[in-house]
Amino acid sequence: MPNPFHSRTLMLGLMLACGLAQAAEPADPEALAARLGIARPAVIAHRGASFDAPESTAAAYIVARDLGADYLEMDLQRSKDGVLFALHDNNLQRTTDVAQKFPERKDRPANAFTMAELKTLDAGSWFNQAHPDRARPGFVGLQILTLDEIIDIAQGSSAHKPGLYIETKEPQLFPGIEHDLKKKLQDRGWLGPAGSTLAKSDLAAGQGKGQVVLQTFDKHSLELLHQEMPQVPKVLLLWLAPGSIEPASGQSFASSGEIDKAAFYARQQPRDQAEFKRWVDLAKARGAIGTGPSAALSGGGEQSYADLVQPWMNQYTHDQGLLVHVYTVDEPVDFQKVMNAGVDGIFTNRSDQLLKYFQRPAGTSVARLLEASGY
Ligand code: G3P
Ligand code: CA
Repeated sequence: MPNPFHSRTLMLGLMLACGLAQAAEPADPEALAARLGIARPAVIAHRGASFDAPESTAAAYIVARDLGADYLEMDLQRSKDGVLFALHDNNLQRTTDVAQKFPERKDRPANAFTMAELKTLDAGSWFNQAHPDRARPGFVGLQILTLDEIIDIAQGSSAHKPGLYIETKEPQLFPGIEHDLKKKLQDRGWLGPAGSTLAKSDLAAGQGKGQVVLQTFDKHSLELLHQEMPQVPKVLLLWLAPGSIEPASGQSFASSGEIDKAAFYARQQPRDQAEFKRWVDLAKARGAIGTGPSAALSGGGEQSYADLVQPWMNQYTHDQGLLVHVYTVDEPVDFQKVMNAGVDGIFTNRSDQLLKYFQRPAGTSVARLLEASGY
């Protein structure tokens, strides 16, 4: 077996002899992840265990935590009265009963509601209707969660202490949300000079230096996050569409007239390699430690987008000293595909399946965990 240290010394010697001493070090994503305190490969529980329980609710986050996910992922928004909370969509219609409780305001964005109003909404029953095979009486009446409540969940188990993977969602709707987030994380002891203020004995997988990762699709929000929290790892989410990574087709899904979104995106490619690289370079220049690209899923579906984790893309990203966390992958065949392509972490709605794939099974079932928590 070759001695890697010896090989590296030889390589450096050769580089010096050839006058290439300024050449970049070979990319080592393993070392980068270790230095940042980010698990590799990372299990990122997308809106919690959102295949098994209503997304972004206590049931979803508690199950993800107790399964042993490294991070609880959330989309951050801010109520009319300034409270930070988790919600993915631009409005409340899909995942709550806002149409019954506030019919005149049902289309309004979440920042048109106070936190007290948001707390009156049922954020669980929609799941039972959409997924009768996974429905549970205990999901009825689940509430929208504040960031404080999600932090309580992350800290609430002695066995598992996941980190937080927080997205500024539609940040233009919430001016100053980056600063508000910093204050909240500071107040809760999740930020510090070295990025780890929790006692060492309180740390577990997903915590330590990389206990918080910040993510955004928005270049300007990335800059603001970096200004506010320079020491916290940040990821620029990548998206293929006009105005983002420019597609070779020049088309958006909306302008294409197509009906099958997954099939449309599966055919899309960046305009050229330089266009993809430009976004990776931009992520790095604005303070990101990694990118969050989309994936094309074998089975298609709502969360299948352009394949932005082709091996050359991941290699280029690694060569720039950045990590790759791909969204959103739920099936073993796709876990295998994206890992073969070289990603460093996976956003998933099915943390139990991904942990099993990584040979880190929870040792209990999702059903047992839900029952144990009263769902
Ligand atoms: O945060 C990245 C991942 O969550 C995919 O995007 O739309 O589900 O927030 P979205
Ligand atoms: Ca997200």
